[in-house]
Amino acid sequence: MSALAAVREAPGLAGYLEVLEDRLAQAVAAHGGLVATIGSETLEAGGKRLRPVLVFLSTPPDLRPGERPLAAGAAVELVHMATLVHDDLLDRAALRRGSPTVWASYGELAAKASGDYLFARAFAELASVGDPAAVGVLANAALDLARGEALQRRQAFRPDTAVEEYLARCSLKTGRLFEAACLLGGGRRELGDFGLALGIAFQIADDILDCVGTPGATGKAPGVDLRDGTPTLPLILAAREDDQVRRALAGEPLAGALGRVAATGALEASRDLALEYARRARAALDGEPDRLSLEALTHLVVDRES
Ligand code: IPE
Ligand code: IPE
Ligand code: MG
Ligand code: MG
Ligand code: MG
Repeated sequence: MSALAAVREAPGLAGYLEVLEDRLAQAVAAHGGLVATIGSETLEAGGKRLRPVLVFLSTPPDLRPGERPLAAGAAVELVHMATLVHDDLLDRAALRRGSPTVWASYGELAAKASGDYLFARAFAELASVGDPAAVGVLANAALDLARGEALQRRQAFRPDTAVEEYLARCSLKTGRLFEAACLLGGGRRELGDFGLALGIAFQIADDILDCVGTPGATGKAPGVDLRDGTPTLPLILAAREDDQVRRALAGEPLAGALGRVAATGALEASRDLALEYARRARAALDGEPDRLSLEALTHLVVDRES
């Protein structure tokens, strides 16, 4: 069985995702105007819906039929979508989910406003179930996301960024939202550790895909990180071995530098570290009812093409 098929085995997951899709559509359309149109288009462009899957699998089975996992799943996906819209503006990325990005289509102000709108809709979803602790978990994750982006700005064009500094950034900008998704499920606290490690593995894999992925599979243009001077793990490691990659990462316009990354051992070494975080995620599991699906996710986040 493929890893994805193993994840989908979890009883009730397919039905949950179906209802979630309607809920997301209602949440983004709720207030009309350009921001709602942009929100609906972003939603319809697809995406893996990985964070709501984490909410569902982290919710004890007896609590799954209720309202809460749906509100929490919608809220984390909306925060995720908000950060993507803002992220593409910051990264000057042209393609997302196979379509032109919001800022590229509608301009910078519309991207800022629609990202803000999606954040607001996320918190409204979660507030609707009346659990202030849950709102606090998501608010902290949103704050850490912004901190991670700020840290990334400070690290830009610095090929000598330490691996620890890079990992701190991945933890903030990606790991914390995965952690929040797991905590919102309301099961064992240790599932938060699972989510955090899974998120870091996921971001390392994303950073590898930025070097070698294809737009057909990822829905994104490759090479954005090198162009922006973002010191990702594969680029940091490749820069240690290849002076042209180092200079390109420091901001020199060097055509062909991206193609040199694969000739170093950087992609394999990065994958090894992603696998290590996937192992750490598995080590945080302990008798979860959907352990097989959660384990399958730890393989899936590293071995993916999209
Ligand atoms: C992209 O996340 C942003 C990162 C944290 C790397 P996803 O790869 O989960 O994006 P979608 O939702 O599937 O489009
Ligand atoms: C993750 O980093 C961004 C967020 C957590 C919002 P990237 O900038 O690498 O994400 P992609 O590659 O654009 O999806
Ligand atoms: Mg980006
Ligand atoms: Mg980014
Ligand atoms: Mg990326």
